[in-house]
Amino acid sequence: MKPSIPSEKDSSAITQKELQSQILDAVNKRKNFAIISHPDAGKTTLTEKLLLYGGAIQQAGAVKARGEQRKVTSDWMELEKQRGISITSTVLQFEYSNKTINLLDTPGHQDFSEDTYRTLAAADNAVMLEDAAKGLEPQTRKLFQVCRMRNIPIFTFINKMDRPGQEPLSLLDEIEAELNLSTYPCNWPIGSGEYFRGLIERNSKDVLLFSRAERGKQSSEIRLKIDDPKLSDLVESELLQKALEELELCEEVGSEMDMKLIHSGELTPVFFGSAMTNFGVRPFLDLFLELAQGPIARTTNKGPIDPLNSDFTGFVFKLQANMDPRHRDRVAFVRVCSGRFEKDMTVNHARTGKQIRLSRPQKLFGQERAVLDDAYPGDVIGLNNPGMFAIGDTLYKGNKVEYEGIPCFSPEIFSWLRNPNPSAFKNFRKGVNELREEGAVQILYDTDQSKRDPILAAVGQLQLEVVQHRLEHEYGVSTLVEPMGYQVARWVSGGWSKLEEIGRIFNCKTVQDSWSRPVLLFKNEWNLNQLIDDHPGLELSAVAPVVSGVDPISL
Ligand code: G4P
Repeated sequence: MKPSIPSEKDSSAITQKELQSQILDAVNKRKNFAIISHPDAGKTTLTEKLLLYGGAIQQAGAVKARGEQRKVTSDWMELEKQRGISITSTVLQFEYSNKTINLLDTPGHQDFSEDTYRTLAAADNAVMLEDAAKGLEPQTRKLFQVCRMRNIPIFTFINKMDRPGQEPLSLLDEIEAELNLSTYPCNWPIGSGEYFRGLIERNSKDVLLFSRAERGKQSSEIRLKIDDPKLSDLVESELLQKALEELELCEEVGSEMDMKLIHSGELTPVFFGSAMTNFGVRPFLDLFLELAQGPIARTTNKGPIDPLNSDFTGFVFKLQANMDPRHRDRVAFVRVCSGRFEKDMTVNHARTGKQIRLSRPQKLFGQERAVLDDAYPGDVIGLNNPGMFAIGDTLYKGNKVEYEGIPCFSPEIFSWLRNPNPSAFKNFRKGVNELREEGAVQILYDTDQSKRDPILAAVGQLQLEVVQHRLEHEYGVSTLVEPMGYQVARWVSGGWSKLEEIGRIFNCKTVQDSWSRPVLLFKNEWNLNQLIDDHPGLELSAVAPVVSGVDPISL
C-alpha cells in the first residue's frame, strides 16, 4: 500500500510574499511528535490506531499481523522480525482533521536509546505511553529525562484501561512525584479492568461509554450527556460517582490548564484509554492536535531560527543504510526546521562548505518511499547519502548557520570485532565504516596500528548483535565479537599532549576514537575515580565531543 502523498504547492516561481504565506500555512498545519514508552506498553498498537484515523493504513492489523510473527509498518529489519522487537526508527506522516502529522517512530528496546535520543532531537512533542497496570517503567523514565533536557512538551496516554490497573489517582501521583511533572487529566476513567465503563471528558463532562468488543475488534464509543437518564441503566452508579468525585478532586487541588507550562514540558495533559480496543484514541488525537506545539524555533550557533524564516534550513538526525535491501542505499533523515524545501534545490552543507543539489528527496513512510516535491518545518525528508552526510550536519540556504550537534551516549560495552576471513576484508571495512557513520555503534581503535581490529563501543548488548547481524546480511561478512572487560569510557580534554603531560596511567587502556582522539577505558568506576583523585587537573568527558568540519579516520 502506498500512502497518499500530497504536495503542498507546485514549485513554479513564486513571489517572496507567496512563499511566506505558503510557509505560514504549512507551519500552522503541522504537528510532529514521538512516542516514548517501555516495551509492551502498547506503542505499536497505538501507532496503528493513529494511522487508521489518518487513513494511512486501511485496516487494523495491517501494522501488526496478529498470530504471525510480529511485523510492523515501521519494523522492517530482519532481526526485528525474528525477535519481535523494534530497533530502528522511521517516520510516519499522515493527514487528519486538516493537519499534517509527522509521527517519528522510536525504537522500543532500551539498548537503542541512542537512536531514540537522536529522534527526539527532531521531535517537537512527545507522547508518553504508560501501561495502567505497571505505571512508570524504567525505559519510560530514561526517555522522559531526555525529553526534559530538551523541554519537549509531554502528553501522557495511560493505556490498557480494559485490564485491571492501578488507581488513576496513584498513577498521576507517581508521575508528579517521580518525574516532577504536573498533570492535567483531560478525561477520567469510570472503573477499570472488568469494570471499565468508559471515560468522563473533563471539559464537556460528557461520558464516552466503553463496550467490550471481541479481542482485536474495535469497541464502540457512544457519547452521552452526564445527566442523560439512560446513563443509570448503563453504568453502575457507584462507579460513576467515584469517577466524578475523583475528577472533582483533580479540579479542586490539581494543576490548572496552562498552555505555557505544557509547551515548556512542565505540565502533562493526561488521557486514559485502551489502544487495543481503539477506545479513547480519537478523543486523545483531537485534543492533542489542539494542545501540541507546532514546529518550534530551533537553536543554532547564530541563535534560534524561526520556522517561518523563508530560507530553508534543516539538520540530519539519523542515517540508515540498506533501508531497502534491493537497492543497497543509504538514507539521511533530515528534519526541516525553517523555510520551504523543494526538490532539486541546491543547498549548502555547513560542515564541508560544499554545495549539494538534492535531486531525489524522498518522503518516508515506514518502508515505503516516494519522491517528494516540497517539505516544510516539522517534516522529515530522506536524502540519498553517498557518504556525504553525518549525524548532526546542517543544510541551509542563505546565511550560514549550524544547528546544535547531537551528542552521543557514553558507551558501556566494549568488544573487539574480529573478521576471521581476510578475503572478506573489503566488505568488512565497508560495513564497519558505514555502520559507524550511521551511529549504529561507536567505533574505537587500538593505539597500536598493527592491531587493526576495531573496537565496538555500545550502550546496549543488543547493539552488538545488530551490528554482527547486519554485517552478515547486508555486507556478507561473518564476524566474531570478543568482550574486552571494560565498562567505562572517558574522552580526554586537551588530547594527546595532555595525556603525555600526565605520563603513565595505571588500570586503564588508552584507545583512540574515529577522530584519532584519546579515549581511556576503565574496568569500573572505581578505577576511574582513582585516576581523577591522582590527577585533579585532568579533564575527562563521558561523551565524545561533537566534531565539525573534519572527516573521521576509517579502518
Ligand atoms: P509495544 O509496541 O509498546 O511493545 O507494545 P504492543 O503494541 O506490541 O503491545 C504489547 C501487548 O499489549 C500486545 O499484546 C498488545 O495487544 C497489548 N495491548 C496493547 N494495547 C492494549 C490495550 O489497550 N489493552 C489490552 N488489554 N492489551 C493491549 P501481546 O499479547 O503481546 O501481542 P498480541 O498477541 O496481542 O499481538
